[in-house]
Amino acid sequence: MEQQFISKLSTNAFSLEKGSVNAKSPSNIALIKYWGKKKNQIPTNSSISYTLTNSYTETELKFSPKTSEEFDVEVYLEGELKESFAPKIITFFERITAYIPFLKHYKFEVHTHNSFPHSSGIASSASGMSAMALCLVQIENILGANLTEEELLQKASFLARLGSGSACRSVYKGLVEWGENNFIEGSSDLYGTKFPDNEIHEVFKTFHDTILLIHEGQKSVSSTVGHNLMNGHPYAEQRFIEANDNLKTLIPILKNGDVKAFGELVEHEALTLHAMMMMSNPAFILMKPNTVAALEKLWEFRRETGKQLYFTLDAGANVHLLYPAIDAEAIEVFIENELKKFCQNGNYIKDKVNF
Ligand code: DP6
Repeated sequence: MEQQFISKLSTNAFSLEKGSVNAKSPSNIALIKYWGKKKNQIPTNSSISYTLTNSYTETELKFSPKTSEEFDVEVYLEGELKESFAPKIITFFERITAYIPFLKHYKFEVHTHNSFPHSSGIASSASGMSAMALCLVQIENILGANLTEEELLQKASFLARLGSGSACRSVYKGLVEWGENNFIEGSSDLYGTKFPDNEIHEVFKTFHDTILLIHEGQKSVSSTVGHNLMNGHPYAEQRFIEANDNLKTLIPILKNGDVKAFGELVEHEALTLHAMMMMSNPAFILMKPNTVAALEKLWEFRRETGKQLYFTLDAGANVHLLYPAIDAEAIEVFIENELKKFCQNGNYIKDKVNF
């Protein structure tokens, strides 16, 4: 299966000229979570995410021919050279070198910019790796690979996965599924698949995602370490089965527009993710006191007003508030008056799903 992504370019066919390509890729927020992986970035269960609009990475990749045998990469974030970022890109290059044959023939300069603050705790790896992958497949085409638009995106998703699992879902708009199962046609462990827009009720295409930045700064445990702690986890097998079941349950909900059923399932997924962390060995907790305070306030608001406000969590302290446009006005007043105080420096990001 991986074979289909091996480049058709022959190594001595490159016109060794310098050039540059650009890509912009959004972040995504998972509704059904990827948590646990096997060798070569193969997920232990299927996941699905909304692609976002305002949180994105823009990358320019400059390349110039070189003769040395090693990978040569410099990474600039917001115009500033970040020597500490290069090893991550080198690891990525090592993983994808079988599929992108020209990596050692060029010196690369990565110029990258995030629309969200780097310290915000918003995952930049999904948008960052996906933008990098989109740049690389463009170079492959410049060098003569002739990939069609569809092939180009699928290969970008395949490569992005090898950089960071969730990144493979950022290549497409809308809802994107990743992980092979027997109930979504075309689903694969190797790349993300766009969930058909005509299987999604209009209400779910109007969703806002307001991200409460509860804690800015480095997480105590990285996602990669967290995934690995699912190996030998006493609840792992049950969790993987439940995640796939939850995705299966979500499909008719997406079609019929039942926002309450959607919200309850999505909240359950988020809390299960964090429960898995607490039951890992060693245990860890990424929620902060203000995360819990915001969730309690949100539940109280929902009980009292009946407004359709739900949450999900990523692997960190931030809270993603999910709500349909129809309730946005009232909910945004509530966020400003009652939830903003739980955010570090009062910061939150207003984002929306991207259809
Ligand atoms: C909780 O994709 O960041 O956000 O593959 O190790 O880079 P690596 O992990 P990553 O994990 C994301 C975990 C999650 C859930 C999700 O996005 O599905």
